[in-house]
Amino acid sequence: MKVLLTGADGQLGRSLQARRPPHWSLHAMTHAQLDITDQAALAAAIGVLQPALVINAAAYTAVDEAERHPELAYAVNHRGAAHLAQAACAAGARLVHLSTDYVFDGSADRPYEEGDEARPINVYGASKRSGELAVLQAHPGTCVLRTSGVYSEYGRNFVKTMLLLASRGNAEPLRVVNDQRCCPTYAGDLALAVIALAEGHGCQGIYHYCGATALSWHAFAQLIFLTAHQLVPGMPIPPLQAIASRDYPGAAARPANSVLACGRIEALGVRRPELPASLTAALRVIIPSGCC
Ligand SMILES: NC(=O)c1ccc[n+]([C@@H]2O[C@H](COP(=O)([O-])OP(=O)(O)OC[C@H]3O[C@@H](n4cnc5c(N)ncnc54)[C@H](OP(=O)(O)O)[C@@H]3O)[C@@H](O)[C@H]2O)c1
Repeated sequence: MKVLLTGADGQLGRSLQARRPPHWSLHAMTHAQLDITDQAALAAAIGVLQPALVINAAAYTAVDEAERHPELAYAVNHRGAAHLAQAACAAGARLVHLSTDYVFDGSADRPYEEGDEARPINVYGASKRSGELAVLQAHPGTCVLRTSGVYSEYGRNFVKTMLLLASRGNAEPLRVVNDQRCCPTYAGDLALAVIALAEGHGCQGIYHYCGATALSWHAFAQLIFLTAHQLVPGMPIPPLQAIASRDYPGAAARPANSVLACGRIEALGVRRPELPASLTAALRVIIPSGCC
């Protein structure tokens, strides 16, 4: 099966390339090779390739920066995604498009279902929600997969940032918020969920996929250092300080609860590993590479 992957250099893009099913002929295009804000380039790439499936892993993901540059966030996450959906639909290709838990406002006291009202509270979330609506309108057969707190051995993410900050050995405790709960998701597990949706017959509409463990960022940081210490016994566990979101200097508001209910994708047989297992797998790659 001919598959076009956009955003191939991102965390999900690289994880998908590493887990590509053998019967896929995967055409992985980085930002430099295919800019999804360039409508003509998209139409040309899809017109020439004639893929059976398009996976959109391209996104503007800088949540705080998006507050300062909303036009960039919307250009990629809304209009770029819409153009991609139009081109995929015109070519008769299926589309799997990625979205985010940040489409929700976080006020619920339970995990969010796919049909719950989206009410984003920051520019990134709003741009991704506009993208969801646009792709579903342009290509009604699209699968939109919302995910949460993605980490991996690739690129920048919370796990690598924590390890980097700890490696500086500052005496000051690391300050991490403890009033935002989500389910961190290993990009390798997410890639398998994307593949399952892509291969699933009759799948369309919105799905949720995230890791199986819900916790605060502060608790996540504790688990990162504990797991790293178990893997490398000499590795010090830095002091951590739990802080409230209002004391964190980020520009964007973030939902207090962005835990996703994933029953719809689990019904397809997709597994959701607990955090310790996936985190250990990721750290086994991240720590020896010294890339944090
Ligand atoms: N990361 C998370 O915690 C998280 C949480 C929830 C949902 N998601 C969603 O999950 C998906 C995958 O996220 P990820 O973590 O893999 O993101 P990522 O690591 O930031 O990768 C995104 C990729 O998209 C590329 N890109 C940006 N603008 C582009 C454009 N105009 N045309 C083509 N490519 C472009 C980026 O390239 P450059 O770096 O060169 O710009 C980067 O390679 C996204 O839809 C994201 O919104 C992520």
